[in-house]
Amino acid sequence: MSGKKYRLAIIGCGMICNAAHMPSINELRREGLVEVAAVADIREIAARETAQRWEIPRWYTDPQKMLEEIKPDWVSVCTPNVSHKQWSIAALKAGANVMCEKPIALTWRDAKEMFDTADRAGKLLWACQSRRWSADMDFAYKAMRAGDIGKPYFADISFVRRFGVPTWGFFHMKEYNGGGSFCDLGVHFIDALLWMCGNPRVKTVSGMQTDVIVKKKEDILLSIKESGAYIGTFTPREYNPDEFSVEECAAGTMRLEGNFLVNFKFTWALNQPTQKHFLLCGENGGLDVEKFTLYKNVGPFQAETELKYFDNRPFAGVAFDAHRYMYRHVYNVLEGREERLVKPEETLNVVAAIEAFYESAKRQSEVRTEDLAGYSL
Ligand SMILES: NC(=O)c1ccc[n+]([C@@H]2O[C@H](COP(=O)([O-])OP(=O)(O)OC[C@H]3O[C@@H](n4cnc5c(N)ncnc54)[C@H](O)[C@@H]3O)[C@@H](O)[C@H]2O)c1
Repeated sequence: MSGKKYRLAIIGCGMICNAAHMPSINELRREGLVEVAAVADIREIAARETAQRWEIPRWYTDPQKMLEEIKPDWVSVCTPNVSHKQWSIAALKAGANVMCEKPIALTWRDAKEMFDTADRAGKLLWACQSRRWSADMDFAYKAMRAGDIGKPYFADISFVRRFGVPTWGFFHMKEYNGGGSFCDLGVHFIDALLWMCGNPRVKTVSGMQTDVIVKKKEDILLSIKESGAYIGTFTPREYNPDEFSVEECAAGTMRLEGNFLVNFKFTWALNQPTQKHFLLCGENGGLDVEKFTLYKNVGPFQAETELKYFDNRPFAGVAFDAHRYMYRHVYNVLEGREERLVKPEETLNVVAAIEAFYESAKRQSEVRTEDLAGYSL
């Protein structure tokens, strides 16, 4: 493949930068489609070691200085959630296209400001909803198109870890991450669900959050892998359960336009087995994504059809394979070769769900997205 060579820089040199972004960028770098000019992190050791690990010529502890000196035309923002807006806007204003890790923002108003800044700058702002390229969602999207379950009106989605709190960085601290399991796991499933159902508008959320298990501080063995760092961590900061200030469990219900109800449960800690569940029910049939099963009548018979899925894509089985497909897609979008898959209106819908969830959990009552500050259709 040939095309423009982009001058890329990364802000935030933690787990996802080193485990997912850099291996994906390397695929493009090998083909001469990007050069990685610099990285930045407020922790010097993270910036320096990332630059050394990946043979990147410059590293900074001040991302703004990096933007001014390096003048990249592509920036990947891999910091904890609370600083996504600041660095995405700074990079857009510095003239770069931006890939920002999910969730790009915690409030609808912030996300809108970010997309408006991108529009004014004539640059791409991309939410890293990488899960759209994961094997289960690849299957689900194809099965939804082929299986004809008809118009979906009910979904039951859960991403449950019995005990899988990310302990390598800032995930567990509200001042850095804004939220816990809903931001980490829920955002992926909600984005995927809305995408494959045609982006029905999130109208209301009724949710609850808890932190009771983590706060008990029992001497439970934690697995880095089971908490989402599949190939380990890089220069992690020490975890202290006393700092835990987000939710370990998020559960509730969302109403989508068109009389569509979604039950959800996203947990880092809950006394039930670790599991993923993604069920979509429509007027003609149902689809269980994790069991690869289609529920659809055949003549007078109720049938349960197991669908065979073969992941024949080039990075099948590779940790964070989804990021690799996503980077290639974003490159092609920038080059005008592919239509962007993750659209601003979809990301805004997801962010509305995030904000409404936290507001609802705080108030302990249902929240309408149309009542969120600045919300407009
Ligand atoms: N798409 C996915 O599948 C996926 C998976 C894991 C994490 N993520 C997202 O990636 C982001 C980072 O997660 P992580 O696991 O790499 O966390 P991490 O803690 O390992 O890394 C974050 C890095 O950002 C640095 N940092 C913190 N505040 C900063 C600031 N204001 N400016 C510059 N650097 C700053 C930290 O020092 C740290 O090195 C989060 O938003 C998370 O939701 C996405």
